[in-house]
Amino acid sequence: MKIGICSDHAGFEYKDRLIRHLTAEGYDIEDFGTHSTESMDYPDVAHPLAEAVENGDVDAGIAMCGTGNGMAITLNKHQGIRAGLAWNTGIADLVKRHNNANILVMPARFISYEEAEAITATWLNTEFEGGRHSRRIGKIPVCGK
Ligand code: RB5
Repeated sequence: MKIGICSDHAGFEYKDRLIRHLTAEGYDIEDFGTHSTESMDYPDVAHPLAEAVENGDVDAGIAMCGTGNGMAITLNKHQGIRAGLAWNTGIADLVKRHNNANILVMPARFISYEEAEAITATWLNTEFEGGRHSRRIGKIPVCGK
């Protein structure tokens, strides 16, 4: 499975550690930046990650910024993206089971690195439930706007 990952400066250190962890677990990772703790603008890395998920260049994505909200707001501008913000494993489970989030977003300044690893593992290892949730997801895209 190929996973695209991005962060702004606030999420850089967690991204770096998560890349090493997921690579050791056998995932193929594509790093969309940022590449340091120097202040930068999250849309500059969020849009390329969203496009890669939409195009199928990667199978899924992970994004982090301070609150997670800048990333989620930006990623969800893309019609093919369901970016879900998760700050604990319960939300991570539901964001896959009910929302089939194709990008996991985490608030790096509000969780520990260990929590980020656990949230990521839950999201990766949970299956979408389908059924009524497929119908709901089918109603999300906005057409003609
Ligand atoms: C950066 O200071 C911060 O604004 C950013 O990481 C994020 O929280 C934005 O939504």
